[in-house]
Amino acid sequence: MTPRWRATQAILATPVQDEEFEMRLPEMIRDHMPVMTLAAALVLAVSMNGPAAAGDATAGKAVFNSQCAMCHTIAAGGPNLLGPNLHGIVGRTGGTTKGYNYSPAMKAAGFAWTKEKLAAYLPAPTALVPGNKMPYAGLHQPQKVDDLIAYLDAQK
Ligand code: HEC
Repeated sequence: MTPRWRATQAILATPVQDEEFEMRLPEMIRDHMPVMTLAAALVLAVSMNGPAAAGDATAGKAVFNSQCAMCHTIAAGGPNLLGPNLHGIVGRTGGTTKGYNYSPAMKAAGFAWTKEKLAAYLPAPTALVPGNKMPYAGLHQPQKVDDLIAYLDAQK
């Protein structure tokens, strides 16, 4: 037996550390379980709350002014800018604001802008209406989306 082989055997014959680790593993899982369960419950609570939470129209006005007003007016009879006037948009059939030159995709969409449609559109405009020409990447914070929709809903 070469010395190197003997050394290898010596290492293989000392599994003490591994055994200790294996014995501690169930303990570690048990110790961390409540934290993991709590974290999972929180994630669930947040995801359940997201789209259903009531929006705050006052907060939504600020969102509109910072995210939408450069392209949309919302007052009754307001002008079309780069995007169409959005007065009364909640409940209105898409692509029908008078005097606005919509993309063929938006004209063909043919649905009414319910709160649910807006909640799907605003975070990902091109996903809901592929080929529409609204050059907006999307509003990704669920609370801001809810607030904004509450504001839009109040403008009619
Ligand atoms: C950079 C300009 C721009 C920004 C910013 C923008 N939009 Fe638009 N929006 C457009 C354009 C252009 C269209 C027309 C799309 C088409 O015809 O394909 C449009 C269309 C829409 C429509 C469909 C209207 C209809 O009559 O069917 C809604 C709803 C809408 N935008 C809401 C919003 C909201 C809410 C925001 C803010 C989060 C926003 N947009 C931000 C340019 C913009």
